[in-house]
Amino acid sequence: MRAARIHEYGPPEALRVEEVPRPAPGPRDVLVEVHAASVNPVDYKIRSGAQRALIHYRLPWILGLDFSGVVVEVGAAVARFRVGDEVYGSPTHRRPGTYAEYLCVDERQAAHKPTNLTHLEAASIPLVGLTAWDALVVKGRLRAGQRALIHAGSGGVGTLAIQLAKALGAHVATTCSERNAELVRSLGADEVIDYRAQRFDEVLSGYDFVLDALGGEERVRSFRVLRRGGRLATMIGGFPEAAEKYGPWRGAPVAIGGLVAVTLRGLLMHGVTVHHVLREPDGRLLEPLTRLLEDGAIRAVIDRVYPLAEIAEAHRHQETGRARGKIVIDVAS
Ligand SMILES: NC(=O)c1ccc[n+]([C@@H]2O[C@H](COP(=O)([O-])OP(=O)(O)OC[C@H]3O[C@@H](n4cnc5c(N)ncnc54)[C@H](OP(=O)(O)O)[C@@H]3O)[C@@H](O)[C@H]2O)c1
Repeated sequence: MRAARIHEYGPPEALRVEEVPRPAPGPRDVLVEVHAASVNPVDYKIRSGAQRALIHYRLPWILGLDFSGVVVEVGAAVARFRVGDEVYGSPTHRRPGTYAEYLCVDERQAAHKPTNLTHLEAASIPLVGLTAWDALVVKGRLRAGQRALIHAGSGGVGTLAIQLAKALGAHVATTCSERNAELVRSLGADEVIDYRAQRFDEVLSGYDFVLDALGGEERVRSFRVLRRGGRLATMIGGFPEAAEKYGPWRGAPVAIGGLVAVTLRGLLMHGVTVHHVLREPDGRLLEPLTRLLEDGAIRAVIDRVYPLAEIAEAHRHQETGRARGKIVIDVAS
């Protein structure tokens, strides 16, 4: 089968599309013919080696953490899926990834694909969906009538999180640049703050929840937006930034120290709890999102689609930090 692998950590050119053996499913695995995958910032952070202290592979390694495809074989103990089922998911990073024509995935990490979505659309959902679910529902405990600030509302996570927050009944403010204002409004944002023209902490106050997609100074300023007892869910561990300064191994304790410091600062100076977002690679957690997609409460937002052969170009685009929604890989083409 064709797959995109790295043989060493490095720039986008480190990704090589090549022939590799097709994997064989274990007892609880389904073998999926992958129709589409998608790119997430974590993919280039892994590719560059910046996350080596957290995620270290014996190379070569197939990258990719989102898929949509069709089950072509099932392991002897598989109970939830049959050959021919359309499935999607965001499996563990501990097994070879989704930038491949075939993928073995534990059935517990897959879900039935929403019937109204194409494979390209479905592959854009799982990682950002599970992340937004963990941030808003599990860590944020966001409820109807509460007010939520979603940072970087035009990004992969932001476009999903705005829609999920609205589906939960929250009032939603978001930061983005002017060129993306119409997009985030179309997703349901009630207040749109152009981060290049306005300081969000001078406009918003008394909020119940913030989704931090930026870290740094924006995260600290976000404390001022929250009421005492409010919650900030952060997706930013600071590992790549610390690795750039101190190297991947010495950078890791620096990043952890930074997270502890910001957590204490939030609590002691603002009465705000800081929660660290973790995507659980659990297919069952996708089921409520699947229902929201099928009901039309959430839609896929796709910036660009690349064929697998152009995976390096897709990474370059993701790495600009300017994506509007998700970057999808058409594996079947
Ligand atoms: N912890 C976890 O489990 C987890 C899971 C998923 C993602 N993450 C992390 O969360 C971050 C966001 O992920 P993502 O997939 O949403 O990234 P993304 O798709 O690359 O985000 C790009 C978007 O961010 C916007 N943006 C950039 N700077 C901004 C600013 N200062 N204020 C407001 N918007 C800004 C850009 O809009 P403009 O072009 O208009 O500037 C662009 O639309 C990444 O660092 C990612 O690694 C963590």
